[in-house]
Amino acid sequence: MEKKNIDWENLGFTYLPTDKRYVSNYKDGKWDAGALIDDPNIVMNECAGVLQYAQTVFEGMKAYTTADGRIVTFRPDLNASRMVDSAKRLEMPVFPEERFVDAVVQTIKANAAYVPPYGSGATLYVRPYMFGINPVIGVKPADEYQFRVFTTPVGPYFKGGVKPITICVSDFDRAAPHGTGHIKAGLNYAMSLHAIVTAHANGFDENMYLDSATRTKVEETGGANFLFVTKDNKVVTPHSSTILPSITRRSLMYVAEHYLGLEVEERDVYFDEVKDFAECGLCGTAAVISPVGKVVNHGEEICFPSGMEKMGPTIQKLYDTLTGIQMGNIEAPEGWLKVIE
Ligand code: PLP
Ligand code: COI
Repeated sequence: MEKKNIDWENLGFTYLPTDKRYVSNYKDGKWDAGALIDDPNIVMNECAGVLQYAQTVFEGMKAYTTADGRIVTFRPDLNASRMVDSAKRLEMPVFPEERFVDAVVQTIKANAAYVPPYGSGATLYVRPYMFGINPVIGVKPADEYQFRVFTTPVGPYFKGGVKPITICVSDFDRAAPHGTGHIKAGLNYAMSLHAIVTAHANGFDENMYLDSATRTKVEETGGANFLFVTKDNKVVTPHSSTILPSITRRSLMYVAEHYLGLEVEERDVYFDEVKDFAECGLCGTAAVISPVGKVVNHGEEICFPSGMEKMGPTIQKLYDTLTGIQMGNIEAPEGWLKVIE
């Protein structure tokens, strides 16, 4: 298969339509067989549930080319099960997990020419999503839904690749106790748009959200979980029922413990202790691990000893090991890589 003529090394995190996308429709209480189609556009009624009341959930994953030329994706079963949790919370029908994985595999395979070559620094981002499509005017769940998967080749999420970024403590809250912070619903991202535009306007790359109940604990950013490294080299990540259970973060905690022999802790992380950490990173499918060099809280700066030039040593090891697993250079734990072709 011949790859597309794309400047892989210089891709940003932007949308570039690829040849095929997967669609399945839910009507009269059941999903149809699903198919790959060509048209990237969707026609729907002006009163569709997704347009009026934001009834939509999504996932984010990637396909990689390994050193030996295979195309793989990473832990798609966990995205499938997280989408079930998201759908249930928004009163949407569940798209069966094995069908989710099959749809993802079919879509990546159909767009194999867009999977960036090994070593290019780019990957194929995969976006499964589902939304209410029939007209809904009273506030209630839709009766009809569409599940889709599209792909787009991407480079680094943050400009500058793996250079440390500067983030600010947001004055806005991301998620309420007993709300929807733990699921991947479009509404969580809509409400973060004003906060991210404000952060960018003030010269910051991202927001650090605190828990909205007490505003004393670190939660996550708009699109990634936090990892911290203590001065005695423990890997610490916030525990919270209002953050998205990141698959990257869960994988990195496993890698830290089982591949790097580090002590790991998932626990409350108070903002007051952030100044005592040696390293900080944001982790997610899009972010991979993006090192944080500085956190600013209303003008007060916390500068991590790892500095603004490069990743700290432990974050670097975690990054190298995780990407080594994803690219097939380091043996993956059983079931982590799904070979597409
Ligand atoms: N937190 C938020 C709010 C996200 O949008 C994402 C991205 O999916 C993550 C964390 C990271 O999750 P994952 O590692 O599963 O991509
Ligand atoms: C992902 O990492 O897949 C996400 O969905 C995060 C988003 C901000 C791009």
